[in-house]
Amino acid sequence: MRVLVVGGGAREHALCWGLGRAVTVEEVLCAPGNAGIARVARLRAVDPSDPAAVTDLAVEEGVDLVVIGPEGPLAAGVADALGDAGVPVFGPTARAARLESSKAFAKEVMAAAGVPTADSWSGEDPRDAVAALDRFGPPYVVKADGLAAGKGVVVTADRAEAEAAVHAALVEGRFGDAGARLVVEEFLEGPEVSVLAVTDGRSVAVLDPAQDFKRALTGDKGPNTGGMGAYSPASLGGTSAPDLHDQVFAPVLRVLAARDLHYRGVLYAGLVLTADGPKVLEFNARFGDPEAQAVLPRLRSDLAALLAACAHGELGGFGPLVWDPRPAVTVVLAAGGYPDDPRTGDPIAGLDRLEGQPDVAVFHAGTRREEAGIVTAGGRVLSVTALGDDLAAARTAAYRAADQISWLGLHRRDDIALAAAAGRGPDRSA
Ligand code: AMP
Ligand code: GLY
Repeated sequence: MRVLVVGGGAREHALCWGLGRAVTVEEVLCAPGNAGIARVARLRAVDPSDPAAVTDLAVEEGVDLVVIGPEGPLAAGVADALGDAGVPVFGPTARAARLESSKAFAKEVMAAAGVPTADSWSGEDPRDAVAALDRFGPPYVVKADGLAAGKGVVVTADRAEAEAAVHAALVEGRFGDAGARLVVEEFLEGPEVSVLAVTDGRSVAVLDPAQDFKRALTGDKGPNTGGMGAYSPASLGGTSAPDLHDQVFAPVLRVLAARDLHYRGVLYAGLVLTADGPKVLEFNARFGDPEAQAVLPRLRSDLAALLAACAHGELGGFGPLVWDPRPAVTVVLAAGGYPDDPRTGDPIAGLDRLEGQPDVAVFHAGTRREEAGIVTAGGRVLSVTALGDDLAAARTAAYRAADQISWLGLHRRDDIALAAAAGRGPDRSA
C-alpha cells in the first residue's frame, strides 16, 4: 500500500520509518515532513491542518491510507474530511478527538465510563477556580481546557504561582481560547506511565507502556515541555495491559460509540499509578511524542497492516502484537531556550556519524536543510533512540549516540531512564 503521514516532527519521522520498513508498504509520503523525514518518505509541502488540502493531496496521490500524527490536524477535522472523501484514515474525527482537545470533555466521558481519574473542577470564573484550589489543596494542579502543546499545565506547591496561573489563563487570556476554560484538580501521587492503544472503535490493541519525561531539566526540574525523553517498556506496577483494556480503554470506547463518536486511531492514556490503583491524568488522541520514538522501533508486527486494520474497522482479526523483547531509550536533543524561547538556525554536527549504526535511530523534529547542511529549526530538534539487551544497555547506547551530535546551545536531560535502569523502580516525571 501507499501511505501518507500527516505532520512533521520526530513522532512522524518514527511513523514514516516504521511504515517504510513494513513489507506491505510500497511508498511513504509525508506532509509536510522535515529534513530527516525526507530520507524515508517523499515530502509534499501541504499544510497538515488544512482538511481540504490534505484530502486533495490524498486523492491526487491515490494513497491507500492516511496516518495523522499530531493533535492539531485532528482537532481541525482532517480525519473528518478524509473520511467524507472515502479515504481510509488512521486518526479520530474532530468530535472524538475532543477527548484530547478538551480536558473538561475527557473528564465527563471518564465519569460516564466509570474510569478512575483525579477529582476536578472545571469552569470559567476565576473566583470559582480559586475556591477549587482551596478545595483540593496543595500541590495545586491548574490546566488549560484546550490544546496548549503540553505547556498549559501548572503543577506547583506554591499558592501564589497557582493563583497566577488562574489569573494568566482566565483574566489575561494567556492561552487564548484554549485557556478560556480551566480545569483545577486533585494532585495524584505516584509514578506516571503512558499507555497507548490503537483501536478501530470496537477492538483495542494495547501497546507496550512507555514513560516520558516532561520537565525540561535533569532531576525533573524546570517547566513542563512536550517531552524530553522516554523509554519502553515501562513498569505498570500492580496493573496490567488486560486490566487497562477492561477498565479504561473498552469502557471509554463504549461511551464514545453510544454518542455516535467514531474513534479510529490511537487512544493514549496518561496514567498515574497511585496507591489506590491506576488513575487517568489525561487522554491523547494520537501517538505520544517522544513515546512513539521509543515504542515503534520495538514493534515487530507490520505497522502499516496494523494501522490499516484500525482504519478499516478490522482490528478484531489482526492477532496479537509482536514486540522486540529489548527495551528502547529515547533522548530528546532540544534547542537552547526550549521550551520558552528556543533559538534556531544553528548548524547540526555529527549526524553522519550515526548513519548505519545498528539499533540506533535518529528521528528529526525541528530541522531544516540549508545549503551548508542541516540546521536547527524548532524547540525539540532530534530524538535519539537506541535498543539494548536491558534498560541500562539501551540507555548507555542512546547517550553514546547522543554524544556524537552537537550544535550551539544544545540542551538535553542526562537522566532519561536513569532510575529505572538502576533498578530503582519507575521514575517520577512530574
Ligand atoms: P497533562 O498535560 O495533563 O499530561 O499534564 C502534564 C503533566 O503535569 C503530567 O504529565 C503530570 O506530570 C503533571 N500532572 C498533571 N495533572 C496532574 C495531577 N492531577 N497530579 C499530578 N501531576 C499531574
Ligand atoms: N509526551 C507527551 C505527549 O505526547 O503528549
